[in-house]
Amino acid sequence: MNRDDFLMLKKDIIYLDNGATTLKPHFLAEEISKYYNEYSANAHRGDYSISIEVDNKFEKTRKLIKNFINAKNEKEIIFTSGATDSLNKIIFGYFRYNLKSGDEIIITKSEHASNVLPWFELADEIGLKIKYIDLDENFNIKIDHLKSIITDKTKVISIAEITNVAGDVRDIKRITSIAHKNNIMVVVDGAQSVAHKKTDVQDLDIDFLAFSAHKMYGPTGVGVLYGKEEHLNNIRPIIFGGGMNASFISDGIRVYDDIPYLLEAGTQNIAGIIGFGRIIEYLNNIGMDNIYNYELELKKYAIKRLKEVKDIIIYNENSESGIITFNMKDIFAQDLAIYLDKYNICVRAGNHCAKIFKEELGIKNTCRVSLALYNTKEDIDKLVEVLKNPKIKEEII
Ligand code: ALA
Repeated sequence: MNRDDFLMLKKDIIYLDNGATTLKPHFLAEEISKYYNEYSANAHRGDYSISIEVDNKFEKTRKLIKNFINAKNEKEIIFTSGATDSLNKIIFGYFRYNLKSGDEIIITKSEHASNVLPWFELADEIGLKIKYIDLDENFNIKIDHLKSIITDKTKVISIAEITNVAGDVRDIKRITSIAHKNNIMVVVDGAQSVAHKKTDVQDLDIDFLAFSAHKMYGPTGVGVLYGKEEHLNNIRPIIFGGGMNASFISDGIRVYDDIPYLLEAGTQNIAGIIGFGRIIEYLNNIGMDNIYNYELELKKYAIKRLKEVKDIIIYNENSESGIITFNMKDIFAQDLAIYLDKYNICVRAGNHCAKIFKEELGIKNTCRVSLALYNTKEDIDKLVEVLKNPKIKEEII
């Protein structure tokens, strides 16, 4: 990995908000620009050579993603606009038709809005019951509690692999094993994990997985919905239009395409998808285990250094990901983030879209550092140096 790949880093910023979105290597924009300037055409619609070149590059990304997460085949990879779109397609395209009133869904109070609100909506629509798994003092899922709340009405467990505030890493393999013994399906929100940790959907035995390209050094507006083929063969599109139908006539008879195209109505973000392929190759070259180990070591270093700061409150020092959530005593989180910005340090403050989590944490707003592969010990040292300013409170208040 070469920090010079990321032109934003030349702006003398300390970028620690990778949970919100990562920076992009320069070749992403170059790849996207090449599509617009050199071979711009629609995908899967033309019979001329430029269009076929687009088809090939578009499908190459699908294949790269299939291999990256070890899906069984390319039909299991659906392009979406992001993890939120993927989760909505899963919940309203599959579960709306495969669940009934009284069925139970299990989530946690640390889930992101995108893995809560669609469930609330579907629960209201068809009469589902939402249950929450208890978390321990480190915000880890209590597996015994999970087992104890499963009933014969439980149909889905829907959880992030890594949560965006607590940063806890869930043992997905263990959870799918418990779930599948009880005929329960598992939906995984991979928004905070797929760029930071190796994901093998077959080994983990995940039923559905959602993730976004922009949180993995790729473009905004591109995401992935992975589903086991047998589930995707039972999903219904929630968007209808061009590119997903084989025929339709005036009396309303229509024949739709098979997956993956069934779920990709309308012109996709072709440039972004092709650019995303370059990013997957980049991550493959670095190696996901190397990325995970590097970020975890950096997180440990950050915890050690942050503990030197007077009045710091760290909420998740034991989580095994690059997410660190903290506050400074008597300082409003957003004020602290604005103060750090004066030193070109970018962190996120607030409730981070995980609005139920305050019920676990006991506090509504926090600051969050979220690490990525280009962060360094020097970034952490700079953060700590600014936080250690003995006049920080006076300067903020
Ligand atoms: N879900 C993103 C975050 O955690 C936006 O910041």
